Amino acid sequence: MRRGLLAITIVAVATQCLVPSTTVHLAGASAPPPVVRCAGSSGCTVTNAYGAFPDRSTCRAAAAAFPASERELLAVVANATAAGTRMKVTTRFSHSVPKLACPAGDRGLIISTDSLSRVVAVHAGRREITVEAGVTLGQLIDAAAEAGLAVPYTPYWLGLTVGGLLSTGAHGSSLWGKGAAVHEYVVGMRVVTPAPASEGYAKVRVLAAGDPELDAAKVSLGVLGVISQVTLSLQPMFKRSVRFEEHDDSDLAERVVAFASEHEFGDILWYPGHGKAVYRIDDRVAVNTSGDGVCDFVGFQPTPTIAIQAVRLTEEGMETAKNSSGMCDMALVTSAIMSAGNYGVTEHGVTALLPGRPVVGYQNRLQSSGRCLAGPDDALRTACPWDPRVSHGTFFFEAGVSVSLSRTAAFIHDVQRLRGLVGPRALCGVEVYSGVLMRYVRASTAHLGKVEDSVEFDLTYYRSRDPAAPRLYQGVVEEIQQMALRKYGALPHWGKNQNAAFEGAVGKYGASRVAAFMAVKDAYDPDGLFSSEWSNQVLGIGGGGGVSVVRDGCALEGLCVCSQDSHCAPSKGYFCRPGRVYKEARVCRRDDGS
Ligand SMILES: Cc1cc2nc3c(=O)[nH]c(=O)nc-3n(C[C@H](O)[C@H](O)[C@H](O)COP(=O)(O)OP(=O)(O)OC[C@H]3O[C@@H](n4cnc5c(N)ncnc54)[C@H](O)[C@@H]3O)c2cc1C
Ligand SMILES: *[C@@H]1O[C@H](CO)[C@@H](O)[C@H](O)[C@H]1NC(C)=O
Ligand SMILES: *[C@@H]1O[C@H](CO)[C@@H](O)[C@H](O)[C@H]1NC(C)=O
Ligand SMILES: *[C@@H]1O[C@H](CO)[C@@H](O)[C@H](O)[C@H]1NC(C)=O
Repeated sequence: MRRGLLAITIVAVATQCLVPSTTVHLAGASAPPPVVRCAGSSGCTVTNAYGAFPDRSTCRAAAAAFPASERELLAVVANATAAGTRMKVTTRFSHSVPKLACPAGDRGLIISTDSLSRVVAVHAGRREITVEAGVTLGQLIDAAAEAGLAVPYTPYWLGLTVGGLLSTGAHGSSLWGKGAAVHEYVVGMRVVTPAPASEGYAKVRVLAAGDPELDAAKVSLGVLGVISQVTLSLQPMFKRSVRFEEHDDSDLAERVVAFASEHEFGDILWYPGHGKAVYRIDDRVAVNTSGDGVCDFVGFQPTPTIAIQAVRLTEEGMETAKNSSGMCDMALVTSAIMSAGNYGVTEHGVTALLPGRPVVGYQNRLQSSGRCLAGPDDALRTACPWDPRVSHGTFFFEAGVSVSLSRTAAFIHDVQRLRGLVGPRALCGVEVYSGVLMRYVRASTAHLGKVEDSVEFDLTYYRSRDPAAPRLYQGVVEEIQQMALRKYGALPHWGKNQNAAFEGAVGKYGASRVAAFMAVKDAYDPDGLFSSEWSNQVLGIGGGGGVSVVRDGCALEGLCVCSQDSHCAPSKGYFCRPGRVYKEARVCRRDDGS
């Protein structure tokens, strides 16, 4: 870890010195690899940005199309519809964890939005922007900013595409205004769907603000057709003032509701193993307030391959030795790096700030980051930390569950009670990946958007390369997730999580919302050409169930909730046991508790 930090520092300094003064660009990294690969007659494969779906399978398709305009897209969809070919939209980097990107069967068609990436128009007067769906969040923010406009709330990672982030309900953090989900600001959309032969097998559906079908199309999991263009409502450019306050977590449960209304862009980073909570005090300020701050989150920076490998080696060592105190030491180094770097928010990259001092900057430079996406290829000397081409690099699970605001305090108390029973060290594993991020998301009119005002808890934690290997204290993290999802009725983020988290998920949206969504789906794509095994399973189509993959060791990978010992790793001493606080939970645990 320390070596990693040192290496990062060296690279940063070196690139600053080597860049000739005439070219002004940031340090480059190897851009993430393409996710669609085709090999002539043997067809194509598609994966996600991590190079691994939850069940570690590879998705296959007969072919891939890369339309570069709506007209080409229309021809592709018409052609496939005429032939009865199953389709699925894939984006440049495909950041979703679940198998959303895979067409049904293995002879389908992948439609990539990689070339559908133009900014169509910026309407400064109406404060709106129209983009093609493959435009990245980074391009979107830049294009709006050039016209003096701001995208008010966004996810924190610039590499997502507009089509993908809308389809999975992606968000930042706010309960103010319409809230932090990007889909709340959609005022127009063009969707290419199948059509009968009499209409040429495909058509463009034009949706405008107030159109009830928009509530289905905003968050659609990609099952309605291909979003071609999106129009978003923007705001005049503004500035924000951001500072971080570090506290112990003893009153976290009591503060979490009030904090949402105190600061427009507030979020909370929770280190449950060390009993610490970092409050992001983040508000809109007048645009003439001085300051030119930027956000450059350390986890989204070009990271030296050797640093990625060194950190992984250390973590694997702690796992193998079941060294929970060593894991906590590692977590402490991570949080110290985050804190020393002011959580990525700096003035001109200067990190030597007094702790707690506010940084003021323009919205477009503070809202998200992703420097590891860009720049000239450096032959994988540096990359995004999760780049699957880095051998012996990082590998993790990513859970995102949203608990309704009114039940969040009780949920936090339960997690703290569990910590009291098992000991705080059991929770250091999630701290190694920069802690549990808590963000606010508002209830939505989108049928598959949030049902209530909620707090989303993002947990990232160790995944072994060996699917049969249990994790240190894995039962504790399993219990927290089952508690959230089952006791507190949390909704799983559509673009994150392992299979088991989606068990019963669609039912939580309520029958009328689901029926309204299905009605639009049946109208747009009656033959389900854009549906896949996974989308049918999560939407409960075809009898429901089937989300979980039940087999030996399935609970180790989050593919099932264990119901018998063989779902864990009995030969390694991990048996299926009830939860400690939430007795209805079923988790994999050793008899010594780890
Ligand atoms: C580093 C990182 C940071 C993240 N940060 C956040 C965050 O801050 N907040 C948050 O909420 N989430 C976050 N996520 C999760 C992320 O939001 C989702 O995984 C995201 O929606 C994926 O976007 P994508 O463009 O990669 O789409 P994909 O994963 O490729 O696609 C998602 C779905 O949308 C469909 N789709 C894509 N484009 C279209 C289209 N044009 N028409 C129809 N369907 C389409 C696809 O078929 C698929 O079903 C993060 C993920 C990563 C890896
Ligand atoms: C239409 O589909 C056929 C195969 O069914 C394929 O050979 C052809 O390239 C496709 N054309 C377009 C425009 O996608
Ligand atoms: C900012 O602008 C407002 C008017 O819009 C003015 O009243 C205020 O004094 C200005 N503040 C600074 C710091 O320039
Ligand atoms: C656990 O890791 C720490 C390093 O953080 C090390 O000092 C300690 O010796 C290790 N303990 C065991 C039992 O391996």
